[in-house]
Amino acid sequence: MDLSKTIELFKEHNLLKVIDEPLDIDLEIPHISYIEVKKPDSKALLFTKPICKRLNKEFSEPILTNTFGSFKALELIFGKDPDEVAKKIESLLKMKPPRSFKEKISALSGLYGLKSVIPQRLKTKGICQEVVVENPDLNDLPALITWPKDGGAFLTMAHTYTISLDGSVQNVGMYRLQIYDDKRLGMHWQIHKDGAHFFHEYKKAGKKMPVTVAIGGDPLYIWCGQAPLPNGIFELLLYGLIRDKSPKLVKSLTNDIYIPEDVDYVIEGFVDPEKFELEGPFGDHTGYYNLEEPYPFMEVTKITRRQKPIFHATVVGKPPLEDKYMGYATGRVFLPLLKTTTPDLIDYLMPENGVFHNLILAKMKSRYIGHAKQFMHAFWGVGQMSFVKNAIFLGEDAPKLEDSKKVAKYILNRLSVDSLLISEGVCDALDHTSIKPCYGGKLGIDCTNEELDLKNQKEKIEESELYDRIKSKIPELKSLAIYFEDSFNPIAVLGVEKSKNGRDFYETLPKDLSKYLGVIVWVDASKNDVFNPYMLVWRVSNNVDAKRDIFLENGIIGVDGTNKGPIDKHFREWPDDTDCDQEVIANLRKRGLISVNEEFLKQYHV
Ligand SMILES: Cc1cc2nc3c(=O)[nH]c(=O)nc-3n(C[C@H](O)[C@H](O)[C@H](O)COP(=O)(O)O)c2cc1C
Repeated sequence: MDLSKTIELFKEHNLLKVIDEPLDIDLEIPHISYIEVKKPDSKALLFTKPICKRLNKEFSEPILTNTFGSFKALELIFGKDPDEVAKKIESLLKMKPPRSFKEKISALSGLYGLKSVIPQRLKTKGICQEVVVENPDLNDLPALITWPKDGGAFLTMAHTYTISLDGSVQNVGMYRLQIYDDKRLGMHWQIHKDGAHFFHEYKKAGKKMPVTVAIGGDPLYIWCGQAPLPNGIFELLLYGLIRDKSPKLVKSLTNDIYIPEDVDYVIEGFVDPEKFELEGPFGDHTGYYNLEEPYPFMEVTKITRRQKPIFHATVVGKPPLEDKYMGYATGRVFLPLLKTTTPDLIDYLMPENGVFHNLILAKMKSRYIGHAKQFMHAFWGVGQMSFVKNAIFLGEDAPKLEDSKKVAKYILNRLSVDSLLISEGVCDALDHTSIKPCYGGKLGIDCTNEELDLKNQKEKIEESELYDRIKSKIPELKSLAIYFEDSFNPIAVLGVEKSKNGRDFYETLPKDLSKYLGVIVWVDASKNDVFNPYMLVWRVSNNVDAKRDIFLENGIIGVDGTNKGPIDKHFREWPDDTDCDQEVIANLRKRGLISVNEEFLKQYHV
């Protein structure tokens, strides 16, 4: 299945909207896509007339966005339910040596089926090499500028193929790639990723590193590119396993890297490991900008493409986004692999408003004291799972993890100061909250215990009374909401105009609040609506570094979800939120290209 077949499939299932109006690749196409993907019935978008006023260009190729924009689209791309893939992986992991002749035959046929997992290298040229572009220029690609403060145009749906120094292992990773000029493309492989590991091999050897970037083709390639497979395993093996068909690869024209033959564009080149360029800023899927940082770049040697290519792109920012659906499939497919290190794990969920690495909920069979804490250490020690900042473990009797209200109540009915483990370790390179880049606090919560004793039920307090009591001590208080009053640990969320650090704030609160509340969370009043729990989870899980921002002393758990700065001894620059350009939004609404109302825009902090 390539992109044009995906478009046909989506049309058949009423999952595609075609937009023929000329629209700018700077902000207009991204903003329309960003809002569409947040809708409960979101569709993929095909923009047939992309233009760029900045470059004074009209592009001949259409742009496809929001390909992974719904559960239905995800299933169509996979060709099956991701749980079926998980089952297949589980049965492979559980394969035992055959004992009887019959078992041998059945094992052999199972293994024979795996033949399709191995990528097939063709000797011919691919459809992706139909046109060899004369005088290749990256600016000829309709690459999007998504956010007003982005440092330039980026390829956002590119699969980047690299090869180990000894040529034995290939890798594909999904990284955003910044276009610097006609021939230079930024390689945003973060420090923990396989692309970066290969890069360091070449750097040490003092050799230029071959890289080939592909755009388009089967959307499953890009999903495989983001899949967190262990170092040394080529992600397209997973492609074969899902499709039951070998991916067919062809050799790049100017280096030795093999790429899928049916992609839409191929950009080949070399990275000089001694040369770096400032990358970013870029509004990322955390809903914050990533600040400028030096990254290597590729110098382009060749661009080839299909006769009629389709340009594939995605938009990232605040949730919900395409990665909600991509991440769902990743979660399902990787469950059996995760269970190999944590065998009593039943299920897990990384809610999209926890932007994946900020929050994980895991259901487990707890067999002995400290079992959940053992799992916390296991999670924080395994591959990309180690990026997870806040991990909550629930017992086997917990409700379905997708049922957020019931899950929250389950947690609050078991939560006490003793449930918490605060640690530190590796964190995602995108994390802006940790005091040091890529290293920060971790919070683990063990709620696998029995429900708390009814005797511990808190006294009730009205929101208005609580507001007045706190306001008398903290005049910076602007808004207040109480959640889960009927649980053992009601939560109060306070909107404040920040004038002191988290510790001072916590110490200033009235001392007897633990009579009424189990948890107090405070956020910046000007940037948050205390009555919008979906975006509060996004904000707080993003902004908290457990070592600095969780307080436990006064019989009440305090959580500082505000933006940090020097007052908090946080000396890294604090990035801005990814906010849409309101003039562009107003203009698109006037032209009838965005049809959602004000309330919707407010709900998702657009
Ligand atoms: C939309 C999206 C954008 C991403 N952008 C980047 C990126 O710019 N840099 C990066 O290192 N990882 C990025 N990732 C995550 C990687 O694709 C993911 O960690 C992958 O497993 C890395 O592969 P590797 O370890 O083989 O290099 C992105 C993921 C998604 C879904």
